Amino acid sequence: MVRYGGKMLEDRSREIESTRKRWDEHAKRYDEWYKTFHGAVEHHVDWELLRGHLPKKRDVSILDAAGGTGRITLPLAKMGYSVTLCDISSGMLNVARQKLLREGVLDKVEILKCDVCKLRFADESFDFVLCWDGMIEAAKELIRVTKKGGKISMFLVNKFGAAIRKFREDPDSALALLRSKPSYVYDEEEKYVVISVEEARELFEKEGVKVIEIYAVCGMLDLLSISKEIQESRNWDEKLFDQVTEILLRLSREPSVKGLSKHLVLYGEKM
Ligand SMILES: C[S@@+](CC[C@H](N)C(=O)[O-])C[C@H]1O[C@@H](n2cnc3c(N)ncnc32)[C@H](O)[C@@H]1O
Repeated sequence: MVRYGGKMLEDRSREIESTRKRWDEHAKRYDEWYKTFHGAVEHHVDWELLRGHLPKKRDVSILDAAGGTGRITLPLAKMGYSVTLCDISSGMLNVARQKLLREGVLDKVEILKCDVCKLRFADESFDFVLCWDGMIEAAKELIRVTKKGGKISMFLVNKFGAAIRKFREDPDSALALLRSKPSYVYDEEEKYVVISVEEARELFEKEGVKVIEIYAVCGMLDLLSISKEIQESRNWDEKLFDQVTEILLRLSREPSVKGLSKHLVLYGEKM
């Protein structure tokens, strides 16, 4: 677990506070992007990949850590799973609460405001733990609260994908990302540790998680040269949507292109 003491604790509190503020301000707009072609495509790919790993039984406990506005909690609750949704931002959680209430599934979800690096749950509390925010520093804490034999799914920031995206504006920093480890990138003012597929596999295996699969997600739409106008549209041709999501799902599983995506999503089983 990451330990914080003295000055580091102060820095950490300041960091958490500014993250919370940023997400509180963004909360009302967060779901809007998922109504565009681009957002709907990304959500479809994320969800299709997740579906294949969900527990067969519904009477299991699921943690959606840093779950925001409940993008994943809501469909899980509608499928009949009980979910604990936690996040640092009350703004994001309030949006989630309203959506869950509107859809009649609020009783399936426990909503908690907390930092994913300092969870208040006992060891081995959950059968399935999701954290889709790229916070590799939370990995040990998330593994701690996962039951033995349970599954964990984490979004990670792809080191090679980050270097590709940085290269045009700043080749030196892009190459530094690949030379040093670990390194950081800023995405919308937030600092993320970047990691490659092989480093992620090694890190999780060292922590007692058998890696089942690592998929390449987010940012792959750039490779298909879909116009900005289509990407931002809210009405689209369903055939194009099906074609785009099919190719992205195939690319997400294809080892030869896994360095190209913005994020990686890892699925593992705690041994
Ligand atoms: C990109 S959003 C992702 C939300 C959701 N997982 C999804 O996939 O739609 C990132 C979320 O992480 C939350 N977050 C950031 N740092 C956090 C922390 N240390 N503890 C808990 N939540 C955090 C933010 O408040 C925000 O809601």
